[in-house]
Amino acid sequence: MSSETTIKKKRHKGFLVAIEGIDGSGKSTLSARIYRDLTTQGLPIYLTREPGDTFLGQKLRAVLHQTQKQPCSHAEFLMFAADRAEHFHEVVIPQLKKGNIVISDRLADSSLAYQGFGRGLDLNMLKSINTWAMRGIEPDLVIFLDIDEDTALKRITGTRRTLTSFELEHVQFWKKVRKGFKTILEEKKDRAVIIDALKLPEHVCQDAVNAILEKCTNK
Ligand code: TYD
Repeated sequence: MSSETTIKKKRHKGFLVAIEGIDGSGKSTLSARIYRDLTTQGLPIYLTREPGDTFLGQKLRAVLHQTQKQPCSHAEFLMFAADRAEHFHEVVIPQLKKGNIVISDRLADSSLAYQGFGRGLDLNMLKSINTWAMRGIEPDLVIFLDIDEDTALKRITGTRRTLTSFELEHVQFWKKVRKGFKTILEEKKDRAVIIDALKLPEHVCQDAVNAILEKCTNK
């Protein structure tokens, strides 16, 4: 048995949650609220994100926030995958080993949705590289914040910060990404929850917290 396969079968003590959605769906607000709520309940929570806050993640964010020259789709995915490998090595795996509930604002499914369904890259190739980068660890739960593209676009253009190359994409791209997320989540069945992002933030948070607590206690 190869060492890669051995890694695949390893279990960890913690619980990994991915918060996913198109830009403007409110993932970051939700992640912060979940963190606050579960910490208040005395649970061991670690909040993180992709692109990560590692040195590689910071470089990647800088690439995404400039619009002069964009990498080709293949290189774009490999940048996210490199960041993911570093994120799992530096942050996710150590925190799971400590027994924490790790909440990540985006994870591998963002690559399947954006680079796979959005850019048209081969999904099986992306899945293999993701699995390798994540050392075979999969999220225990994926929470997808669903919002229509037009509302998301309005939310984004209403902010004053500089937009990333993805946020400047045409609405057709976003439609593909959103549909992609839904297709990916259907395969995950009971490890995925879809929440309507247009509900009040406190209700969105309550639904997410309930889903985490239910899955966590049944792990
Ligand atoms: P985002 O979570 O929006 O970061 P920030 O809040 O700093 O803007 O992520 C940046 C962009 O990167 C976002 O448009 C989605 C995109 N992305 C991918 O295309 N593939 C991926 O694998 C990841 C993690 C993000």
